[in-house]
Amino acid sequence: MKPIILLFATLFSSALSIACPKGFSVVNQQKCLKIVTGKQKHLEAENDCSNYGGTLVTIKNAIDNRAVSNFAASAGLSTLWIGVFCFSTANTTTCYHDDNTGTLTYNSFASGNPKIQGAGGCVYMSTATKTAGQWYSQACEVTNMAYVCEVPATVAGKTTCKTTYKTHSDSTCTHNYNGYCYLPSHEMKLSTNLSNYASAQAFCQASGANLASIHSKPEIDFIRAIYRNTGIQQIFLGAQGSKWVDGSKWDYDYTDPLATVKDSCLAMEFYPYTPNNGMWTQTNCGNAFSFLCKKKIGSKTSQEQEPIHEILDASNCNTTLFMAPGVITSFGYPTKKPAATFCTWKLVTLGPYRVGVYFTDFSTADPVYIYDENGFQINGPSGNQSPFYTLAYSNIVTITHDSKNDAKNGFHGFSATVLPH
Ligand SMILES: *[C@@H]1O[C@H](CO)[C@@H](O)[C@H](O)[C@H]1NC(C)=O
Ligand SMILES: *[C@@H]1O[C@H](CO)[C@@H](O)[C@H](O)[C@H]1NC(C)=O
Ligand SMILES: *[C@@H]1O[C@H](CO)[C@@H](O)[C@H](O)[C@H]1NC(C)=O
Repeated sequence: MKPIILLFATLFSSALSIACPKGFSVVNQQKCLKIVTGKQKHLEAENDCSNYGGTLVTIKNAIDNRAVSNFAASAGLSTLWIGVFCFSTANTTTCYHDDNTGTLTYNSFASGNPKIQGAGGCVYMSTATKTAGQWYSQACEVTNMAYVCEVPATVAGKTTCKTTYKTHSDSTCTHNYNGYCYLPSHEMKLSTNLSNYASAQAFCQASGANLASIHSKPEIDFIRAIYRNTGIQQIFLGAQGSKWVDGSKWDYDYTDPLATVKDSCLAMEFYPYTPNNGMWTQTNCGNAFSFLCKKKIGSKTSQEQEPIHEILDASNCNTTLFMAPGVITSFGYPTKKPAATFCTWKLVTLGPYRVGVYFTDFSTADPVYIYDENGFQINGPSGNQSPFYTLAYSNIVTITHDSKNDAKNGFHGFSATVLPH
């Protein structure tokens, strides 16, 4: 009898505690979805979803597929962008879910799809009677379409996030995401909005929280949205020396590869007008910054998926598909006399993001050519260069370099960190 009782207990508690952020509906008892009827190109749709800390809807089984199709159809959508991106081949082995859970384990492609040649890497679902629930390839930046955003399910935020600094004690959580409540210092009604690291962490602990740790790109997007239009440019995160103060694993790193300051604390930076803002830099713990507290709301009952990371060799020369984040280098780097060879790197990120290439060391005789997905050259640096970056407009970049003249002219090659932005 025991296993059955346990099963019932689990079902019951998950039915009780699941919640979606404001504006999102619970679909299929476990997904948080929001329909956007205004038609957008794929990238604009992804950007909009990322402002909620989400992506376009991801679909992992037939039950969800039917639920999403019905949900969209009931709002009058006949087609919608979904969170799948296919990179190269005419089968699904290079199709990835937007939410960093890897390649597709389930698909509902109509026959003849995916079809990169002649169509494109983006994917939409039809809800029309005869083709309801079927997926089709589509050019990303040509067609405007309605879409459905998905954010992780969370837990109802009643009686949490109360702070000793607020007079009322039963506030619901304003920034509720993925089972955590986020409490930015500028909403805490403190006597000053700026604190050094130690007192910032003390303020958080007084609310039963810690300075925030961060574990994914969607979480970064969610936090960026909290700070959009606040004018705040730096906040303390809860880390010292690559260790999160809340004891969680250091499993995601968005440190600015070009940052030069070495110090004991970690700040997240939001500079206006930079498309790649939200990066982390080391900073002095004595600085006076705004800060962000984060607190677990309750045990989260929806399934959590471990991100999948590709396993990579050292230079990644001639990789057919290099998924950011990661590091590429010229062949044989950092030997003083690099071998003469021609290398191509095809760099990609998941559907919602764009590729950022951060050269941390650069020394080549002939140019390193950087092309966008249409083969248009977006940069071609050569010589000895201080660290710099190149940001692409989409999620595919190709880099080529011929190192035949490097060693004989005293150049030692390059190293670049590839990050989504
Ligand atoms: C998919 O395409 C790749 C590369 O073209 C090929 O190696 C693989 O066998 C194909 N897989 C299936 C299931 O057809
Ligand atoms: C803190 O920031 C908030 C929001 O920007 C502002 O309303 C408040 O006056 C600030 N408090 C102090 C003490 O500066
Ligand atoms: C990479 O591919 C190019 C062109 O196919 C080839 O000439 C070169 O030797 C390869 N480089 C390495 C290091 O495998």
